[in-house]
Amino acid sequence: MEKDIRKPLLCPDSEQNGDLPATSRSPRTKNNHVPIFLGTACFLCLALIMAIRHFGTTEQMPSGWLERCAWRDLSPHVHLLDVAPIAHDEFLQRQSTLAAALDAVGVDAFIAEPSASSSYYVNISTSFELSERPFLMIIDRAAQFSYLAPKFEAGRIARLEMVYRDKKVIEWPEEKSPYKVLATETGYKKIMLDEHARFMIASGLQAAGVEVVPTTQIIQSLRAVKTEEELKILRGINDFTLQLVRSLQKCIKIGMTQETVVSAASRLFGRAGVGNGFWAIVLFGDQAAYPHGGSSGKTLSRGEFVLIDIGSKLHDYGSDVTRTILPTGSEVTKELMDVWYTVQAAQAAAIELMNVNETCSVVDAAARKVITDNGYGEFFTHRLGHGLGLEMHEHPYLNGANGEKLRIGEVVTNEPGIYVTTDQAKKLSLDVGFGVRLEDPILVSNQDRPGGILMTGSRAKSPYEP
Ligand SMILES: *[C@@H]1O[C@H](CO)[C@@H](O)[C@H](O)[C@H]1NC(C)=O
Ligand SMILES: *[C@@H]1O[C@H](CO)[C@@H](O)[C@H](O)[C@H]1NC(C)=O
Repeated sequence: MEKDIRKPLLCPDSEQNGDLPATSRSPRTKNNHVPIFLGTACFLCLALIMAIRHFGTTEQMPSGWLERCAWRDLSPHVHLLDVAPIAHDEFLQRQSTLAAALDAVGVDAFIAEPSASSSYYVNISTSFELSERPFLMIIDRAAQFSYLAPKFEAGRIARLEMVYRDKKVIEWPEEKSPYKVLATETGYKKIMLDEHARFMIASGLQAAGVEVVPTTQIIQSLRAVKTEEELKILRGINDFTLQLVRSLQKCIKIGMTQETVVSAASRLFGRAGVGNGFWAIVLFGDQAAYPHGGSSGKTLSRGEFVLIDIGSKLHDYGSDVTRTILPTGSEVTKELMDVWYTVQAAQAAAIELMNVNETCSVVDAAARKVITDNGYGEFFTHRLGHGLGLEMHEHPYLNGANGEKLRIGEVVTNEPGIYVTTDQAKKLSLDVGFGVRLEDPILVSNQDRPGGILMTGSRAKSPYEP
């Protein structure tokens, strides 16, 4: 809970006291010395506000105020989150598709630990904590689902809301090797291991005589390519996330801290019922020169951009949206505005190419060319984007080294940026550093309609119209 320190600071006749409970207003407004009292109180109140502005505190603009202000704009958009979770049948379909793909490459089964893959195939979510005792989800080439579980944990695991046609439970007692138990009970000779499974699983299976092969691109792409149901969820949460950033832009004020914005954003997601999975990077001015953040406690000054990179989850699917904004009435130099529009143009150039069969590295290069042509090439330090789904970062990756082709139905972020630290700024004859990034997840489309499709609904038009 935060202290609302605005209360003692407000003048009794201030317009801002509309938000305050009546009890916080002066009880003495009934006596004869009202005008003198009000004058003194107002003077003290102004002096205090100025002192606090000057010295800066993390609480001068409580996040509660920012939350209430933003919620007025955001609440009409909460319906975007009214999307059904993935249905039982779709899970079964995923299992059949995986089985067919395994059969096609002559592999007996696919094995995963609790991860995005287990979540995708059988609804065992990543919230099941990994321990040194293996708990493995298995789907074989005949679409049979089974799992390997520590015997003493069998009761707890059986209560998970897994989805299957029918299941086989393989329990391993503490006095036996889980891998030998698995090999003996299944007879599998060759299995494909999920890319996030730990090395001990691979080595344990190999020691038990089972050949282990890595996840192929074809099997990765089963999860990378989204169905219409998945797209509805991703659209809902990403569009809502953008609306949340827009509502913040209308309310952020000079003098707020980065933490105030993060805390308000967290409560806004919570109020809309999608607080689980919330994360945020909020950076002011030169702090944004480090793409994933600088130090804490920074207060927003005039002439500084606000970079907000934020997301949460709906039915386990993530959102990931970045906007670089200015509060109404605040301005940056012409040079910084040019940087903003350069990043916007870079994003546009890459969206145009986000079509089926385009090569990932080519899409990355298209954005990079715009930034390089404008003289900032060395300051676009990261890849252009990543797949988005049950994982915040998943296949495919848009980087210079990836020769993979895009597939219809993949959702991939497009997030160019320019980052200049204060030290580097001197080289560009600027006084302070900055960072600008714009990010939208994009659906890869077919070639009848060139250009990827925004999962956020619309792109940023300017720092004031994010
Ligand atoms: C998947 O698990 C969640 C709980 O983690 C549950 O709410 C949901 O109903 C399950 N889905 C299906 C199709 O059973
Ligand atoms: C994409 O490439 C594959 C393999 O080369 C080809 O079969 C498919 O027709 C292409 N798709 C489109 C829409 O061009």
